[in-house]
Amino acid sequence: MNREGVTMHSTEQSLAGKIAIVTGAASGIGAGIAGLFAVHGCRVVIADIDKVAGQTTAQELGENGLFCHLDVTSEESWRQLMARVNEHWGALDILVNNAGIGSAESIEDVDIALWQQILAVNTTGVFLGCRSAIQSMKHSGGGSIINISSALGLRPLSSTPAYGASKAAVVNLTKSTALQCAEKGYQIRCNAINPGFIRTPLLENALAVAEDPDALLKGYSDLHPMGSIGSIEDVAQAALFLAADGSRFITGIAMPVDGGMTI
Ligand SMILES: NC(=O)c1ccc[n+]([C@@H]2O[C@H](COP(=O)([O-])OP(=O)(O)OC[C@H]3O[C@@H](n4cnc5c(N)ncnc54)[C@H](O)[C@@H]3O)[C@@H](O)[C@H]2O)c1
Repeated sequence: MNREGVTMHSTEQSLAGKIAIVTGAASGIGAGIAGLFAVHGCRVVIADIDKVAGQTTAQELGENGLFCHLDVTSEESWRQLMARVNEHWGALDILVNNAGIGSAESIEDVDIALWQQILAVNTTGVFLGCRSAIQSMKHSGGGSIINISSALGLRPLSSTPAYGASKAAVVNLTKSTALQCAEKGYQIRCNAINPGFIRTPLLENALAVAEDPDALLKGYSDLHPMGSIGSIEDVAQAALFLAADGSRFITGIAMPVDGGMTI
């Protein structure tokens, strides 16, 4: 510790002994967050609708990984998940609401069924997750909730009205949740991460069906003043910071991880 009382080592990044749920962790950013958390000593529940990929991700984490089926849009599915985690490992310390789906239709093209599906997964799923975590964490000494929003929730594009609106709602929900928990003295923090374009299966799929993948990738890259899209590791490191005790005085933020896209 130095003379200002600052501990000059990295134990505050440790998640040793903690229990986390990461939704949508079968793939992409969620799998990356789960892997980094496990490296830092956390036991991680891979909660996803994709059983095959989810079980594979969990197996890669060895005894620190457990797959549980979860449909984030279902209240009953959340109830079953929380009961199973509590029974298997004990009280929850960290929830990462990461599961999400994309869409790229303009306001003139998006139909009501797609609009409702995007809102159900990206917004209602986060609402149900926050509420479930609070019900558990407020009785067990607190915790950290991290909601994966998007740079497009802060800076819209004409091509993504449903996705952008669903992610903007997550930012507002995050702040409201943070305030409620602080005012009640629950010791629960709630923060959002707003990634720019990140190279994941979701993005690879968009590139795979593009007429000119190189031009599309360049277009995405050009949105970021730092000149490139980001990596899964970039988002996972931000999640690790917000999950660990080193960020204990941070709540209610929307943290861009976007190479300057939302400046
Ligand atoms: N990739 C990007 O460029 C980018 C940028 C900003 C924000 N994000 C956000 O990051 C998060 C992860 O995205 P990704 O790129 O890793 O996507 P991905 O498609 O690789 O992974 C998403 C995961 O969510 C799961 N999922 C989907 N619907 C679900 C449901 N109803 N219940 C439970 N699980 C469900 C999928 O099975 C999948 O495993 C999403 O919320 C996305 O909106 C991604």
